[in-house]
Order: sequence, then C-alpha cells, then structure tokens
Amino acid sequence: MKINSICCIGAGYVGGPTMAVIAQKCPHIKVTVVDLNESRIADWNDANLENLPVYEPGLDAVVAEARGRNLFFSTDVDKAIDEAQMIFISVNTPTKNYGAGKGMAADLKYIELCARQIARVSKQDKIVVEKSTLPVRTAEAIKNILDHTGNGVQFQILSNPEFLAEGTAVQDLHNPDRVLIGGEDKDAIKSLVDIYANWVPAEKILTTNVWSSELSKLTANAFLAQRVSSINAISELCEKTGADVSEVSKAIGMDVRIGSKFLKASVGFGGSCFQKDILNLVYIAKSYGLHEVADYWEQVVIMNDHQKNRFSRNIVQTLYNTISGKKITLLGWAFKKDTNDTRESAAINIAQNLIAEQAKIAVYDPKVSEKQIKEDLISLDENQLKLIQVNQDPYEACHNSHAIAVLTEWDEFNTYDWQKIYNNMLKPAFIFDGRNLLDKKQMTKIGFTYIAVGSSNL
Ligand code: NAD
Ligand code: UGA
Repeated sequence: MKINSICCIGAGYVGGPTMAVIAQKCPHIKVTVVDLNESRIADWNDANLENLPVYEPGLDAVVAEARGRNLFFSTDVDKAIDEAQMIFISVNTPTKNYGAGKGMAADLKYIELCARQIARVSKQDKIVVEKSTLPVRTAEAIKNILDHTGNGVQFQILSNPEFLAEGTAVQDLHNPDRVLIGGEDKDAIKSLVDIYANWVPAEKILTTNVWSSELSKLTANAFLAQRVSSINAISELCEKTGADVSEVSKAIGMDVRIGSKFLKASVGFGGSCFQKDILNLVYIAKSYGLHEVADYWEQVVIMNDHQKNRFSRNIVQTLYNTISGKKITLLGWAFKKDTNDTRESAAINIAQNLIAEQAKIAVYDPKVSEKQIKEDLISLDENQLKLIQVNQDPYEACHNSHAIAVLTEWDEFNTYDWQKIYNNMLKPAFIFDGRNLLDKKQMTKIGFTYIAVGSSNL
C-alpha cells in the first residue's frame, strides 16, 4: 500500500516531533496528529511558535515548514482515524498505579482505548503502528481487540518504537542510529519502510519480528539507564577514595568496548521513560518466573533512588545537619537540558527531601514554568508549598542563599557572573554540583565551598 494519509493518536513529546519530521520529509503524505487534550492541540496550532507545547531545539522550524501544508493538529480523532491508511499509536504508557502490577507494570488502558476506537471507526483496511513503548507481546492484545470488535476490516499491526531523546529529538529524528520495524506482514512492513526511506539510509532501517522489536525498545532503555546507575555507583566510591568520577569516566570510556556515552555521573536519571520501562521489564520477567533477571534490572532503579536521596542527604549533612529555615537555590528543574519536560526529574525528589527538612527553596529553570513546578509538587501540603519560590531571574534566585544545587546541566549556568552570585550569598557559600557542570577551580578561587558528585575534597 502506498501511504498518502497518516494519523497519529497522541500529540505528546513523541507524537508531535515524530510526526512533524515525517511531514517535513514526506510532503506527499498528509499527517494528522490528534489528541483528546484540547489545550495541547491549541498550543500545537498556535501561530506563535514559542508556544508549542514541547520545547525542542529546531522543532519550531520543522513545524513552521510543514504545518498547514501537510501537517495538521486536531481533536477530531474519529475523522483522522477514518481518513488515514496508517495509524500510529503514540499515547502515554505510564506505570500502573492501581491493582495488579501496581508500581511496576505498564498501564495499557490508553492503548486499549485507542485500539477500540480504531476498531469502531474504521471502514477500510488499515495499518496500525505501535509507536508507544509497550510490553513485549502487546501487539497480540491489540490485534485481538481490532479483530473482534471491528467492522470486519483487515488490520496489520507493526511495532515501530521510538528512540529519540528529549533535547535532541529533531536531530535524532533527522539522523537516527536506526529505525526499527517489527511485523509479520511483508507489505505492511514495506509501506512503513518506504516512508522512512524518504530520508533514512536503507542500511539503518532494521526489520524484525514484532516481539523482538517490542523487547528491543525496553532493552535499549534498560541498558542506557544501567550505564548511568553504574557510573553513579562508582561516583559514591570516588567520593570516599579521592578518585574523580569524570577522570574515571574518561579513562574507561576511551576503551572502545565500553564507549564514552552515558557515563556522566549525575544527581540521578529522570525522564518519563527510564524508570517506567525498567520497572515494566522487571514486571515482565517476574511474570515469567525469572526472578534473578527481575532482581538484576530492578537494581538499576534502586541505585538511582539511592543517588537522588544521598545527594539531598549530603546537603543537609554539609550544612551542619540542619537546613530548617535556610534558603537553598535549585538551578534547573527539567530532567535534562534543552527540554521543558520535568517528568521524574531528580529535582522533584530533591526539593521534596529538602522541604521535609523545612528548608526554603528557590528554583530557577530557563524553560520550566512556575505552574509546572507547583504541579510537580502537588503532594506537598499548603504550608510546605509556602516554602517554595520560583524565580525568573537566576541572580534573584541565588540572592541570600546558603547553598546552590545544580540539578540540570543547562549551558547557560556556566555563563553566569559567579563572583556576583557569591557576593550576594550567605557565607560560607556552598555549591552542590549534581552535574559536574561548573569549573571547580574557578568556583573554589572565588571562595565557594564547591562539592560535586563523584569528586571528594580529600
Ligand atoms: P505524552 O504524555 O507526552 O503524550 C501522550 C499524549 O497522548 C497525551 O497528550 C495524551 O492526551 C494523549 N492521549 C492519551 N490517550 C489518548 C486517546 N485515547 N486519544 C487521543 N489522545 C490520547 O507521552 P510521550 O512522552 O509522547 O510518550 C508516548 C509514548 O512514547 C510512551 O509509551 C513513551 O514510553 C514512548 N516514548 C517516549 C519518549 C520521550 O522522549 N518522551 C521517547 C521514546 C518513546
Ligand atoms: C531516553 C533514551 O535516551 C531514548 O533513546 C529513548 O527513546 C527515551 O529515553 C524514551 O524512551 O523515552 P531521554 O529520557 O529523553 O531519552 O533522555 P536521556 O538523554 O536518555 O537522559 C535520561 C536521563 O539520564 C536524564 O535525566 C539525563 O540527565 C540522565 N543521564 C544521561 C545521566 O545522568 N548521565 C548520562 O551520562 C546520560
């Protein structure tokens, strides 16, 4: 089937950028991205590109090129499904927070709702593509729903997991390491391969069976997160022994068998996917009775929780075991630089820990709104919320602080006038660098007590 009409259900961090790039690279295909969330769709349609709901470097230019030409954002899900030959499901698959598998398994209710809606609306044969990250063998469930509740039309199911990272989404989509397509039906696979072939070299388009494709996505995230937890585990040992984790990362990363990427020690990994996907993997392993496999992967998440908690514990201990009433400034709230996404950001955990100790928290992040920060702290009570202040100006955020914690590796933090910041802080002035971002020599010379993850002052 030669595809000229695509629908994507879910206009989030994956659906929006992915479809924008498909539309940009395939002007002959009409791409309609739909979502139930009206304000999100309104933001995607906003004439002012600064208001797009997802902040990604370069995304505004891609949307500007394709929107209104062959890229459309709409809340009319039924119409878009009906008109499309190929439907991508790109809805959220969060960790289940109720019932069996609570806190571990993926909640597939949004996926199932999509499948039922596609079955109800479709009058012609369609290819359904799993873009969301799903437990292995989910395609079977989708196929079952489509075949038993539909109008007798034929559905082919493909798995096409997305590997983009936030902050570099456009670059990753333009130039992916690989595109993975899992499926059974050769024609359906070819239809999707042909779309990517408009800009991705043939040797980078990998086709597999559905189950390999589904499991490869969970495995890729598990391996990436495992590297971060591995280096974070070593960072604690560095702090005790006088080794420096940046030096250790460099030394081991030069071994091509290990490689240099994903070896940056940090305050802990965040983001909507690493933790949820590993827990999902753990749950699947347990459900097959593979307890050693489950325990092995669960340790990656346990280590990450430890890293976040020990970072805030270290702040309390260093500030003479009490931070009650002290002002602590958090620089960065997003889970990594170049995104406005805060899901599972380590900053949330650290702020909660510090507020539990009655510290006053000032937050500055170049891309995250005050509204979002307050939403992230929804579990706090009214009195605790009064301890949080969000600043639009980093210098104000640092004014009269006892300590600064760098939680996101935004480039702009390195461009600040640190002497000025130091002059306006209480002394001794502490910096806890959770990203190894700032220049230790410069900070120490100014007079800061500078404490970075994975390096000791031994
Ligand atoms: P998201 O929460 O940003 O977006 C999902 C969107 O789907 C929401 O806007 C929601 O309103 C919409 N939605 C849910 N049910 C719907 C329905 N029945 N009809 C219409 N719209 C519906 O999520 P995301 O970050 O884009 O992630 C989507 C999937 O992609 C997840 O499975 C995730 O694991 C995977 N993934 C995410 C990333 C990432 O960087 N965020 C990368 C690779 C894969
Ligand atoms: C990750 C994967 O990199 C993507 O391939 C995948 O598609 C995506 O998850 C997904 O499935 O959602 P993302 O979470 O957007 O992408 O960003 P990463 O660059 O992987 O960073 C994740 C977290 O790990 C961030 O908090 C980051 O700061 C942290 N990290 C990363 C480190 O602490 N150290 C590192 O060396 C690398």
